[in-house]
Amino acid sequence: QELEMQLEALEKGGYEHFMLKEIHEQPRSIKDCFRGRLNASEGWVSLGGVKDYEQKMINAQRIIMVACGTSWHACLVGEYLFEDLARINVEVEYASEFRYRNPIINENDIVIAVSQSGETADTLAALELAKSKGATILGICNVVGSSISRITDAGSYTHAGPEIGVASTKAFTAQVTVLTLMALSLAHKKGTLSETKFRTMLSELEIIPEKVQRILERNSEIEEIAKIYKDATNALYLGRGSSFPVALEGALKLKEISYIHAEGYPAAEMKHGPIALIDEEMPVFVIATKGTSYEKVVSNIQEVKARKGKIIAIVTEGDTDVKAMADHVIEIPDTDEHLVPILATIPFQLLSYHIAVMRDCNVDQPRNLAKSVTVE
Ligand code: G6P
Repeated sequence: QELEMQLEALEKGGYEHFMLKEIHEQPRSIKDCFRGRLNASEGWVSLGGVKDYEQKMINAQRIIMVACGTSWHACLVGEYLFEDLARINVEVEYASEFRYRNPIINENDIVIAVSQSGETADTLAALELAKSKGATILGICNVVGSSISRITDAGSYTHAGPEIGVASTKAFTAQVTVLTLMALSLAHKKGTLSETKFRTMLSELEIIPEKVQRILERNSEIEEIAKIYKDATNALYLGRGSSFPVALEGALKLKEISYIHAEGYPAAEMKHGPIALIDEEMPVFVIATKGTSYEKVVSNIQEVKARKGKIIAIVTEGDTDVKAMADHVIEIPDTDEHLVPILATIPFQLLSYHIAVMRDCNVDQPRNLAKSVTVE
């Protein structure tokens, strides 16, 4: 027993929980993810595993991404990246819905499954269905040799290392990183990005781990915010564009480990319902970084403030406008807009973690949840 406890403490590498350790591993895991796949100074990106399928992906009328849970959120970020950078049409599907729907699939379709474990029953079944209809099936998995990685025609591993905490953290940022690399590679091959833009994006991606590190250094600041909202009964998460899936993921992190009811919404949809919930008790977490939808998000923040909701905003370093309106801001380093999801996710992971710890929840093994769902 004693020995077992010592062993576990050792595995946690000095952190109180696996989740906190895994959050802090992200500068490393993201770097591991693009190691050997990206070279900004030479100006190339290459995903060896799927290289032979790139032309097929470019020619495809559409790509279907299937996944569950957090991995499904990564797919939603992927959709924005593929569409905007490579101008490839993407449909994102819950594996469990897709497989029971009699979906229209043929030999020209490409189905990409995204799964940390590579064992999720619904995702695996969705792939089997697509395969039986002649589609090309690809995988983005973390666990090497997992069922999904074995049945797919090709794929790319995320190389995030083992993830023990049930709530996915480093696997998510690694999935988004692989999808970014894939989108960039396809965009370059297809010629939808100028050489200059392509190269700037590669350089930006290469320094993302350092920027993640800088956000992690704000841990105690985030812990202070957690103290203020730990007793909330509800929370709303808002974002637009590729930050919308980050809002969904932020809400999922909070509900799964702290058992606070939370919902993620596209910021503009708030007025079609969730706005009715806003009062002085309601914390609203908003991604309000600089970029195309900044002004729109600012007006959504004003709508919340007019109803006395509390705003906790993730902003770009140096921002003053949102700071003047929000109750709290968490600054993240400036980066290319396409890479914001990787950065904006980190403060939400830490917030949920601290709130769950303060509420005495079992952070690494939340009630009713499993790390890998191998049954339907
Ligand atoms: C479970 C886990 C989640 C995960 C989801 C999909 O619900 O608790 O963290 O996102 O399964 O898992 P996968 O291994 O396919 O990414």
